[in-house]
Amino acid sequence: MAFSCQRQAAAGRAAPRTSSRRVAAVPRPVVLAAAAAAPAAPAPTPVPPSKLIDGKAIAETIRSEIATEVAAMKQQYGLTPGLAVVLVGSRKDSETYVRSKKKACAEVGFDSYGTDLPADVSEEELLKVVEAYNADPRVHGILVQLPLPKHISEKRILDAISIEKDVDGFHPLNMGCLAMRGREPLFVPCTPKGCIELLERMNVPIAGRKACVIGRSNIVGMPAALLLQRRDATVTMVHSKTPDAARICSEADIVIAACGVAEMVKGDWIKPGAVVIDVGINAKDDPTAKKGYRLVGDVEFDGAAARASLITPVPGGVGPMTIAMLLQNTLESARRAAKGEAAPAH
Ligand code: GUN
Repeated sequence: MAFSCQRQAAAGRAAPRTSSRRVAAVPRPVVLAAAAAAPAAPAPTPVPPSKLIDGKAIAETIRSEIATEVAAMKQQYGLTPGLAVVLVGSRKDSETYVRSKKKACAEVGFDSYGTDLPADVSEEELLKVVEAYNADPRVHGILVQLPLPKHISEKRILDAISIEKDVDGFHPLNMGCLAMRGREPLFVPCTPKGCIELLERMNVPIAGRKACVIGRSNIVGMPAALLLQRRDATVTMVHSKTPDAARICSEADIVIAACGVAEMVKGDWIKPGAVVIDVGINAKDDPTAKKGYRLVGDVEFDGAAARASLITPVPGGVGPMTIAMLLQNTLESARRAAKGEAAPAH
């Protein structure tokens, strides 16, 4: 079988910092003639910096906090946190994310271990790789980059990751604990955890507020709604079959948009003064941009920013937080190992 399993060197290659999903790797063709004929759009009013939630700066602060703790952990326990990242196939977006994750590990002093498997690898071979990492004491976190090729059962693979090393928080036991009152998951999925961290670091009150989560994916929407609910928000989830999504959203004090549709959430969906967290990263044709496209979120930024009290930009909002939370989860796992802690009772 053709796969490599190697410990990553400390230096990573330069890679985009974005960590979120759905970036179209290849720009679609742009119809220049149509663009030229269109009347020039009025320039949007600049958004005051005080309204912007700077995810990049917040993520950098968290990463430096992590680096400090890693240095102390090495001194005190002689232990280096280790993250194993498994990539199947050669999707460009997945390759970019995996590179960014390994680079982030090196920057905070973690060891990272990488296994790259061909797209036609069997489910059994992939399971063997996961099981080897489950048994490896140097590895405190295991991440299998999604999506997997169609012939592999994502469910079977995610179920095979030891819950003590499930730093993605995707194992059904971790997800189940997240959903239950009185239970604590060992890990919370990184992107929604990053959304809540942004709200908390910006001192946005959550308890008693109305929140609307747009999208119900296992990776973002569903755990985001559970996290908000655990913090005593009144949460409504809006999805593709929801009638009157705009009205429901316009009643929310906090909006988390994670539907994967470029600029679906319009300015008039936002209640004046609401806080908007935009998880989306989508490529949109833009003949004025060097690459022929630019990145936009799931929220129509200018319209929403005009009404919101706080809003995340795209890029530079939620994206950098996902990797920071992955590092935080891996550190937490290493901390438990250093202290010889058994997994907490669920
Ligand atoms: N693919 C897109 N986002 C994620 C993520 O957060 N974790 C994993 N494992 N795969 C992804």
